Amino acid sequence: MSKVENKKLFIQTLGCQMNDTDSEHIIAELHEHKNYDVTTVMEEADLIIINTCSVREKPVQKLFSEIGQFNVKKKPGAKIGVCGCTASHLGKDIMKRAPYVDFVVGARNISKIKDVVDVKGAVEIDIDHDESTYEFAKLKTSKYRTAVNISIGCDKQCTYCIVPATRGDEISIPPEMLVAQIQKDVDNGAVEVMLLGQNVNSYGRRFSDGRAKSTFTKLLQEISKIDGLRRIRFTSPHPLHMGDEFLEEFVKNPKISKCIHMPLQSGSTKILKSMKRGYSKEWFLNRAKKLKDAIPELRITTDIIVAFPGESDEDYQDTIDVVKELKFDQIFNFKYSPRPNTAALDLKDIEVDDKIASKRLTDLIDLHKEHQSELLARNVGKTIEVFFEDLKSNGEVAGLSDNSLLVFVQGSDELLGKFVNVKIISASRTALKGEIAK
Ligand code: 5AD
Ligand code: SF4
Repeated sequence: MSKVENKKLFIQTLGCQMNDTDSEHIIAELHEHKNYDVTTVMEEADLIIINTCSVREKPVQKLFSEIGQFNVKKKPGAKIGVCGCTASHLGKDIMKRAPYVDFVVGARNISKIKDVVDVKGAVEIDIDHDESTYEFAKLKTSKYRTAVNISIGCDKQCTYCIVPATRGDEISIPPEMLVAQIQKDVDNGAVEVMLLGQNVNSYGRRFSDGRAKSTFTKLLQEISKIDGLRRIRFTSPHPLHMGDEFLEEFVKNPKISKCIHMPLQSGSTKILKSMKRGYSKEWFLNRAKKLKDAIPELRITTDIIVAFPGESDEDYQDTIDVVKELKFDQIFNFKYSPRPNTAALDLKDIEVDDKIASKRLTDLIDLHKEHQSELLARNVGKTIEVFFEDLKSNGEVAGLSDNSLLVFVQGSDELLGKFVNVKIISASRTALKGEIAK
């Protein structure tokens, strides 16, 4: 008897790491419950899904141009679905603009995917839907790493941000579910976990079963007890919730990667207030310096929005001052983009001229490039422990250090899955080259 072939799913993901995990859940759920296998060729797919981001205007525009293309080139009869944050905030309007779309599933409703794929016209965007205890089928994307969402939604109201409107209120996933999931992944070979959430260090404020509150620090301690798990990474923490207890755990827990994402957004206390970030320039500098003093090899990455409404030359200079003082290892730079359902829309009258905004963005990028080269060059001559996980076709093997430095050496697949000491011999702006230390 010939085997019935599975249907084919093509999925395109825009946006953040939470969207990546949501896409993995979609793939795994559709494989397990609906017999879909992934294809990278859109033209041969029976189902095309685009998992969207709406944090800035650009990805939203991209959505409509992409699905238009898909609709022209797809196999006859193939279905098109739109998932994620843009699905949440545009809902039915997506079908008004693009009537060939078959279904829409919001970022908070991913667990419903298996039920709606066959329902023409389905729109599932309930912002109060609670899937914090839903056990998603899981896709294995890397042999050595796993990623888990530790919370869904966000309780903050940063005035530029659409996320609370698309992902809803924050609910934490019970720690015992997280520990069990990570334990299972470690039993299957994972050595590293990435903990994901919009605001990871406010973890534990609300569980859907009404149990007592907990904290992110406690969760880190619980997860650290998992034997065989070597590294814990997380993103994104909020600088406001970086109290002393959290910083102490970060410093002393050897399993926690010494690369931290600290989204600054702006270096001006006035602008931070207007963004409702809840901290000042001084608090941010104090937290970052405390960590830097305690951990010499610490690397800090950040997000910065330039030209938030009302940002004067002095405010921008405050941001530049913080950047010069801390020298971030990586900056994700954004020009402010007005978003629907956000409080900053009320500041329309004081929006920054687009030419000035673009100049601020390029100046910041240039400054950061100088810092990046300088920071990476400091590693030449040092010996660093690297976990190798990727064999390239040119005979190089790539891996990451504990503090997320990307390192290449000449080698073979024998290095894969191993922690090895590497002597660094050269640096570019984004990566290091080395040789295995004798
Ligand atoms: N405009 C520009 N950047 C934004 N971000 C979030 N909302 C906006 C917006 N309206 C940026 C923030 C956030 C990152 C994920 O995206 O820096 O940390
Ligand atoms: Fe948006 Fe602020 Fe929540 Fe981050 S913390 S997701 S920027 S509202």
